[in-house]
Amino acid sequence: MTLYFIGLGLNDEKDISVKGLNLVKKADFVYLENYTAVLNCPIEAIEKLYEKKIILADRNMVEKDPEKTILKDAKDRNVAFLVVGDPFGATTHMDLLMRAKKAGIKTQVIHSASIISAIGITGLQVYKFGKTTSIPFPEKDFEPETPYDVIKENQKIGLHTLSLLDLRPKENKFMTINDAINTLLKIEMRRNEKVFTSNTFCIGCAKIGSLDQKIKAGKASELLKYNFGPGLHCLVVPGKMHFAEEEVVERFKN
Ligand SMILES: C[S@@+](CC[C@H](N)C(=O)[O-])C[C@H]1O[C@@H](n2cnc3c(N)ncnc32)[C@H](O)[C@@H]1O
Repeated sequence: MTLYFIGLGLNDEKDISVKGLNLVKKADFVYLENYTAVLNCPIEAIEKLYEKKIILADRNMVEKDPEKTILKDAKDRNVAFLVVGDPFGATTHMDLLMRAKKAGIKTQVIHSASIISAIGITGLQVYKFGKTTSIPFPEKDFEPETPYDVIKENQKIGLHTLSLLDLRPKENKFMTINDAINTLLKIEMRRNEKVFTSNTFCIGCAKIGSLDQKIKAGKASELLKYNFGPGLHCLVVPGKMHFAEEEVVERFKN
């Protein structure tokens, strides 16, 4: 039958498209990918609106052996695979799509809003962003400097950098803007290349797409004092701003 990749949008259960919702209602199995992002509502709210039991899909289920679950079900039944944001925004689920195609399973994609485009709410023009980076939780022998290098490369050509922040929903652990800034400052201490210092101008964004989203612009040291609250956070380091961009960003300084 068909494996439907359905984007849920950025905030809660109601951000799904009408088309997406109709397909979910007709599906025999509904999986929700719950390791790369989470909605700003409980699973029960999703199940109630969609009138379906939700099967939570962790990284192992999706990326290691989906043949045992999602793809097995999709061989002869309709399966909805739900992804917060867009199924191909930031994290792409291309591997699952390709595996489905190779297994002869029909697929259909229903796109939705993604943080990759919604970040335009900061006033920065989306097409002036360079490479996106991810900041992982530091571990004992794993403190990659890639985000620092990405900011450095984007800065060289005046482009903005969007940093996506790590999360571990199973442990209820979500990296904050504060953690991200401290991680970058720690790398700066080692590298001392003046790529990201406490004076670096940045924009912190929390819960974009919700009614209580928070956007705050200022020096890294100023953002460290601001409480962005719970929910998903991301951090932007602007490159060279056009005056029209500056005008909007200015409003987020207070
Ligand atoms: C790996 S990406 C997945 C993106 C998703 N598929 C999409 O298209 O938006 C998840 C990260 O993006 C950022 N993010 C996603 N949604 C967000 C939101 N509504 N507000 C702020 N940051 C968000 C967070 O840093 C989060 O950890």
